[in-house]
Amino acid sequence: MDQMNFYLPEEQLAVQEMVRNFTEKKLKPGVIDRDEKGEFSLELFSEMGKMGLFGLAYPEEFGGQGKGSYLSYAVAVEEISKVDASMGIAFSVLVSLYGGSVMNSPADDETKKKFLAPVLTGDHFGSFGLTEPTAGSDAAGIRTVAVKDGNDYILNGTKIFNTNGPFADYTAVYALLEPEKKAKGLGCFILRKGMPGFSVGKIENKMGIRAAQVSELIMQDVRVPAENLIAVSGTGFPTAMKALDGGRIGVAAQGLGIAKGAFEITKEYLKVREQFGKPLYKNQHIAFKMAELDTEIEMAQHLLYKASSDKDAHRSYTVPASKAKMVCTDCAMHVTTECVQLMGGVGYMREYHVERMMRDAKITQIYEGTNEVQRMVISNNMFREKK
Ligand code: CAA
Repeated sequence: MDQMNFYLPEEQLAVQEMVRNFTEKKLKPGVIDRDEKGEFSLELFSEMGKMGLFGLAYPEEFGGQGKGSYLSYAVAVEEISKVDASMGIAFSVLVSLYGGSVMNSPADDETKKKFLAPVLTGDHFGSFGLTEPTAGSDAAGIRTVAVKDGNDYILNGTKIFNTNGPFADYTAVYALLEPEKKAKGLGCFILRKGMPGFSVGKIENKMGIRAAQVSELIMQDVRVPAENLIAVSGTGFPTAMKALDGGRIGVAAQGLGIAKGAFEITKEYLKVREQFGKPLYKNQHIAFKMAELDTEIEMAQHLLYKASSDKDAHRSYTVPASKAKMVCTDCAMHVTTECVQLMGGVGYMREYHVERMMRDAKITQIYEGTNEVQRMVISNNMFREKK
């Protein structure tokens, strides 16, 4: 009988070590500055792509690495987010939401390769245009329309909260081809930066993940060739939902990474900071709190690695992804809040990182489906009548 394996295989341990070296040398030195200025480093992001990180989740024939492993990708997002959660979400949106839109669409393999390979190799960047002023948790409320004109489509509408929006070369844009059918008339197009009428609107000023670039994307009579239609009318909504299933694994990994990052900094601090004649960790209430947080992190990790392994094994992963997203991101918020408290005044100061991690944690409970939406997904699947 096969044994259950609760430990990361060699392949993922190697990814973990490679990414850890990169984060220590390259991401850590400027992370406070990038957060302070709200500046994203395209140079470092591109370097991640060139190292092969963007391709981890996809097979070689589409520009990825080997057979493609979501577990490897989740481990990489976790390691990046331990140090720099803004880079973590830019990475996750490119791979899961842009890449996932292409990969889960009904397009043929040649089309998939055409739109995936330039992004997975780190030469170009990808973004995801689903959310609109009228379509947040209710993703079916989209109003962007695409009207056929000869061999092209003319797109009009506004997308909001697009991570990587300001600099993306490729954006997966969801638009109604048959508006009267609502979500059942939704399709998906790949828009390229610089297409006439396609522009970046307001760039958001955020509480956390301050270095990540998030913006409106505005479409005014954008002419898009039919070959860029990757999901025809009726296939857009399930394509978006499948991309989001993968995205939720990415955000879960981001949450877990944030929690682990804050926990490790706090653990070291508790060993060196002395009060009342002894290191802080020698107070039982502090040691017990750390024991609880460590256990919470391990529980979250199991759900994340299980959901990633389910995806790699081609098992259904919608519900496992939602469970992992909900638990890992709640864990991030709880652990970072406790860590700021455990470190006292120092925890509140920018140079010790944990206050940034607490600010970064909050959005993980909100985006790619609020944790209330995750409860909808889990319970809807639980009680859905079999057709
Ligand atoms: N995979 C495939 N198909 C799916 C699916 C999935 N995971 N989930 C739903 N579907 C299909 C259903 O089978 C159904 O098909 P039929 O009509 O043929 O039966 C259809 O889609 C509609 O499903 P529901 O009735 O369940 O849809 P709903 O309208 O009730 O919405 C929802 C469900 C889960 C609330 C969905 O709207 C949702 O996920 N909302 C949250 C959206 C979201 O996560 N947005 C984040 C955007 S990205 C971001 O955060 C920004 C960033 O850059 C980080």
